[in-house]
Amino acid sequence: MAAIVLIRSIVRNFKRPATAASAAYSTGGGGGGCTCTSKKLEGKVALITGGASGLGKATASEFLRHGARVVIADLDAETGTKTAKELGSEAEFVRCDVTVEADIAGAVEMTVERYGKLDVMYNNAGIVGPMTPASISQLDMTEFERVMRINVFGVVSGIKHAAKFMIPARSGCILCTSSVAGVTGGLAPHSYTISKFTTPGIVKSAASELCEHGVRINCISPGTVATPLTLSYLQKVFPKVSEEKLRETVKGMGELKGAECEEADVAKAALYLASNDGKYVTGHNLVVDGGMTAFKIAGFPFPSDS
Ligand SMILES: NC(=O)c1ccc[n+]([C@@H]2O[C@H](COP(=O)([O-])OP(=O)(O)OC[C@H]3O[C@@H](n4cnc5c(N)ncnc54)[C@H](O)[C@@H]3O)[C@@H](O)[C@H]2O)c1
Repeated sequence: MAAIVLIRSIVRNFKRPATAASAAYSTGGGGGGCTCTSKKLEGKVALITGGASGLGKATASEFLRHGARVVIADLDAETGTKTAKELGSEAEFVRCDVTVEADIAGAVEMTVERYGKLDVMYNNAGIVGPMTPASISQLDMTEFERVMRINVFGVVSGIKHAAKFMIPARSGCILCTSSVAGVTGGLAPHSYTISKFTTPGIVKSAASELCEHGVRINCISPGTVATPLTLSYLQKVFPKVSEEKLRETVKGMGELKGAECEEADVAKAALYLASNDGKYVTGHNLVVDGGMTAFKIAGFPFPSDS
């Protein structure tokens, strides 16, 4: 059912061309050309899981622009190494599978050994998982476990190992990526939706303890952005449609006219939460979706004599 609703919504949006305003607004990927006058993460050390691509890469880029040193931890060693090289000498890559606790522990320890501290831990790695079967009555529990292992176990494990260093340091900021699919049901397959609804709960639970130690923890729930994760998902829904057309479709999915959700919007939300700007914000779910999950237009048919 959820997949059917999603497909309906995609098809509806597929017919709706992106407005000229939204097309003109696009700056493409990355951090979106920061003209910052002050560096908000000067001297800070950040570790980003799933940082090789998409939202993690854009956030790494934004953090670097603001003076941080960034360790990218990702399963994909080839892309991760390339990304770190592209981002410059203050970025480095460590291979890490977030489903393996020892890998996360190792990435955190390596960061602390190398730089003497960990200021920001961003648990961002995630997958959508299979889109079929659509019905929960047919749910493949092995696939469900796989999605939960990456999207939930990986996040909890990242929080655990970051907290080991942040609690004694009595400072630090932990971020996690949820999704609009974790705010409203029916936007994505069940396993992904369930995993993303879990993230704000994890954040609130951890915040209740970490507050005592001066450590903040928050999550970000982005709207749809045309990253490799989204494009490969849409390619399964529309196998015959070109990537370019799919990118256009994603641009037309938002509710806020004149803008579209870009990697840079998520990166800037992460910068706000990670920097001193967000110093009194903890246990929060920052939804970056142009209002998509804030309302539902009443779609009832008007009576014929109205
Ligand atoms: N793109 C969107 O529209 C969107 C919207 C809402 C939420 N999100 C969430 O944002 C996060 C990042 O997604 P993205 O869109 O940038 O996707 P992406 O596919 O571009 O990046 C995800 C990264 O995670 C890595 N990864 C996957 N499994 C891993 C594992 N087991 N261990 C370590 N790394 C692993 C991948 O190699 C990849 O580099 C995910 O948690 C996703 O659910 C994305």
